[in-house]
Amino acid sequence: MRLSYLLLPALWLLATAPAEAAPPRGATSCTGCHPRSATSGPVPTLTGRPADDIITQMNAFKTGERQSTVMVRIAKGFSDEEIRALADWFANGANARPAQPAPQPQPAQP
Ligand code: HEC
Repeated sequence: MRLSYLLLPALWLLATAPAEAAPPRGATSCTGCHPRSATSGPVPTLTGRPADDIITQMNAFKTGERQSTVMVRIAKGFSDEEIRALADWFANGANARPAQPAPQPQPAQP
């Protein structure tokens, strides 16, 4: 009983978190390879790229018009709606901000 007093506000906080904070489906798999900001590595960053550009490239990978090492296979797993959501998310730079605030150190419990 006492536990639910603690859980309910926590659930309410989760439910009312701004939608922008939630990455669209699959976004965390993209960020496993694509870095947040430009680096000298082999994988280009997607952060801040125009959404239409990302959509065009994803469709070119899907159809095989653009050859690639891995993106051809990855792009085939996403619908047009999902690609649009991902493209908007990256274009808005949402990827550049950390999804969660860093955990605060907790005082020792008595
Ligand atoms: C396994 C690593 C990996 C994952 C996961 C991955 N990518 Fe890629 N992506 C690449 C590489 C490497 C390239 C460069 C082209 C190539 O060789 O395939 C690329 C290229 C791209 C490009 C073209 C960029 C340019 O500069 O032309 C876009 C757009 C893109 N990826 C979108 C995505 C999206 C959206 C996701 C998530 C759904 C994703 N990628 C997941 C590795 C990955």
